Amino acid sequence: MYNRKDAYYKRAKAEGYSSRAVYKILEIHKKYGLFSKNSKILDCGAHPGGWSEAALPFLGKDALIAAVDLIDTTVNDTRFHFLKGDIRTEETFVWITAQSERYDLVMSDIAPNTIGTGDHDRSIELAEIVITIAERVKAEKLLFKLFDGAGTKNLMQSLRKEYKSVRIIRPDATRKSSFEIYILCER
Ligand SMILES: C[S@@+](CC[C@H](N)C(=O)[O-])C[C@H]1O[C@@H](n2cnc3c(N)ncnc32)[C@H](O)[C@@H]1O
Repeated sequence: MYNRKDAYYKRAKAEGYSSRAVYKILEIHKKYGLFSKNSKILDCGAHPGGWSEAALPFLGKDALIAAVDLIDTTVNDTRFHFLKGDIRTEETFVWITAQSERYDLVMSDIAPNTIGTGDHDRSIELAEIVITIAERVKAEKLLFKLFDGAGTKNLMQSLRKEYKSVRIIRPDATRKSSFEIYILCER
């Protein structure tokens, strides 16, 4: 049964993080090394800020996080820059490149609202936007969430033409009932 207040939720609350999603990104970082001292990071779908909070302790003073979400998000750190906006718009892209022309890592925890039908297709559409942004900002690494489904294989094939390494990750912190996966691409 779905339990919103599961062990990861309680741990996040106890450790002062904004969301249980921090444990997914920390697990992926531990295994694949996402963050480094001078990283320029784009956090797409950043609210309530868990992924950025997880990244900040690994970053030096010259690092930067540009974060975008439809919902206002506050993370108290001068390296965190936030835009309330939609990643599908060119206006948002202009803001992203005003923070930094290039990014080391583009990470996206964006998912469409689930309504039961078409969730996978809408998740692919959002992923394609993030993939295009990552290309345009010349990101070395791209990590994005996807609702797994029939289109995953095609998407993986096209990503393999662009990236040296493309892997599917299902973190332990992902709820057992969820069909979300993460795709990590590295140049
Ligand atoms: C699962 S939450 C992200 C959680 C976050 N990674 C954390 O650790 O706190 C997904 C977010 O994606 C945002 N989102 C969905 N569609 C978006 C869009 N088109 N542009 C920007 N943000 C979007 C939602 O508002 C939501 O806050």
